[in-house]
Amino acid sequence: MSKIKLALVGCGGMGTRHLYGMRELLASPFNNIEPVGVCDIRLENAELAASEAETLFGYKPAVFTDMETMAVAIPDLDAVSVVTDPSVHHTVVCRALELGWHVMVEKPMAITVGACRMMIDTAARHSRILSVAENYRRDPSARLIRHILEKEWIGKPYLAWCHALGGGNTIFITPWRHIKDKGGPILDMGVHYTDLIRYQLGDIAEVYGDARLLEKLRYKPESIGDQYTFYQNRHRAMEESVPATAEDVSVALFRMESGIMVNWIMGRGGTGGIGGEMILCEEGQIASYGTRGGRAEIQRKGKDKEGHEALVEMASDFELEPLAAHFFPDCIGAENVDWRLIALEYFELGEAILHGRQVELDGLEGLKDVAAVYAILESSLAGRSVSMQEIEACQVYGYQQEIDEALGIPG
Ligand SMILES: NC(=O)c1ccc[n+]([C@@H]2O[C@H](COP(=O)([O-])OP(=O)(O)OC[C@H]3O[C@@H](n4cnc5c(N)ncnc54)[C@H](O)[C@@H]3O)[C@@H](O)[C@H]2O)c1
Repeated sequence: MSKIKLALVGCGGMGTRHLYGMRELLASPFNNIEPVGVCDIRLENAELAASEAETLFGYKPAVFTDMETMAVAIPDLDAVSVVTDPSVHHTVVCRALELGWHVMVEKPMAITVGACRMMIDTAARHSRILSVAENYRRDPSARLIRHILEKEWIGKPYLAWCHALGGGNTIFITPWRHIKDKGGPILDMGVHYTDLIRYQLGDIAEVYGDARLLEKLRYKPESIGDQYTFYQNRHRAMEESVPATAEDVSVALFRMESGIMVNWIMGRGGTGGIGGEMILCEEGQIASYGTRGGRAEIQRKGKDKEGHEALVEMASDFELEPLAAHFFPDCIGAENVDWRLIALEYFELGEAILHGRQVELDGLEGLKDVAAVYAILESSLAGRSVSMQEIEACQVYGYQQEIDEALGIPG
């Protein structure tokens, strides 16, 4: 089978997890990638990633600290996977496209809607593929629920909610996740959920939102519950406290183009928490889908709840794509789900380059997910509801303007 030559750019926490995702694909009968390089502006991060890769792949990819040197050293490189912090997605992705590579970039696609537009234009100018890595929608439970909604098993949806609020004042994974022009927690987490909402319920028409910064100082957590060496090293080196500039709690109401109402509570700060997603339909309700390893549940009007296994049994016309079915034969994102969802993203990129498969989240889809999060923050600043049209066209831009000015992004 032909394979694309691939390099990882950005070898931090998620970059490390990408290596495990690549390993899952390499070990499958569907493999269509050949990882050949790792690149990070911090040499120690690139070297650690190369050593991890050696253990995982059985060979060591070449190490780089800049993409120009990598382009000379690997002239037949097909694509890069950009897993840097979001404040540099646009500069790294645009440079990679100019160097002639196809690109997959981690969510959020970019730090502002203007930055997303730069990336879309550059990809079009260079006729390269631009794919956004968004894993939640690839979970088998998200696929199953989308199928059930499409088939209208329990009628049409009219109301949904999406809640992911956790309290506390510790540093959320990395210090940069608390800085407005690096990608605050609402953008970093929220974009998973704007994508899921749009995936299940279609495009958003209008948003009323409000957001607050509750925890102005963030503290180093006592431990980091992650086994990866990179996360452990970073935890040891982490500063004791970080001043926060990005909002950490948000509330919103989305009116979908279909007329469905969606309630949103999202963030990381303050004293309380709430979690879970629900879609209410004419003939019943759906819960517990989407996030990695989710197990969907349906309750039809006046009936007992039906769990994930029963739904799979009933959905005889539902099929996962072949690689997903190989990874998740019971249609449950169980074993190694984090890595295997990443493997699905790489497989799709390979197929797009080798055989012209359409990528599921192209630049425009990635932009819509980012724009939906900013609609909340723009609405909060403007003190009125905003239409997605004005956010996507950058007509309402007060909140993002400050970020663009700080990063030199043309608004
Ligand atoms: N899909 C998911 O579930 C998920 C989970 C975590 C993170 N992410 C996303 O992955 C991305 C990275 O997050 P992270 O937690 O790994 O951040 P991180 O800070 O741990 O890692 C970022 C890495 O990028 C490197 N870097 C910065 N600028 C660079 C440049 N110009 N060229 C090359 N390397 C550069 C840094 O040195 C660092 O090693 C973010 O977009 C984040 O939202 C996604």
